[in-house]
Amino acid sequence: MRTEPGNAVGAVVFDVYGTLLDVGAAVEPARRRIGERADRLGELWRRKQLEYSWLRSLMRAHRDFEGLTADALDWALRAIGVEDRALAAELLAGYRRLPAFAEADAALAALRVGGLRLAVLSNGTAAMLEAGLEAARLRRHLDHVLSVESVGIFKPAAEVYAIATSTLGLPAGRIAFVSANGWDAHAAAWNGFRAFRVDRAGLPDEPLPGDVERGVASLAELPVLLLP
Ligand code: LAC
Repeated sequence: MRTEPGNAVGAVVFDVYGTLLDVGAAVEPARRRIGERADRLGELWRRKQLEYSWLRSLMRAHRDFEGLTADALDWALRAIGVEDRALAAELLAGYRRLPAFAEADAALAALRVGGLRLAVLSNGTAAMLEAGLEAARLRRHLDHVLSVESVGIFKPAAEVYAIATSTLGLPAGRIAFVSANGWDAHAAAWNGFRAFRVDRAGLPDEPLPGDVERGVASLAELPVLLLP
């Protein structure tokens, strides 16, 4: 933690899906209908959702994250040979009610009590984010819920990270950016933020540009790292 006056962290910006909200839980309603194939479905669903976000950004053919999430689920279900419209509808509805990671509530509360401003910056639409964060009881800790929809392109485009600096009115170097998506943490670092990667699964760091300041095992480590 740098301590020079004027250089202290003034705000913390969190990624949402996979960082605050547990996307791994999204396929649980499928388990009783398709058994172990739910794991494969979950992997494909998340991978395709992100792929479509990157591909559409490169193609300049934006579609919002709710649409991409539905497209990715549709592809993943077909890939594992399941045709079940009721299941697809149930899974998509569940994406608006994902559980928070266990430590999220206490970590956000401690950071806010410590005087930091808190925001999220996510690929999700404002409606998905507001509903999901409210259902997970995290919304009350947040000063801003920022969606890529205001710039019409997905992470890791620089325009997205600029939403955080302009909204918070702080230089990127005074904002801690926290993501469990390694590529997102690197992109934030590349754009000047002090980036922290949450590594709950013990995965290696990504060989991407941008110096991530530090990896943490969970959000619970953040108050000690970021509060003076
Ligand atoms: C998000 C995705 C990257 O919340 O998880 O932006």
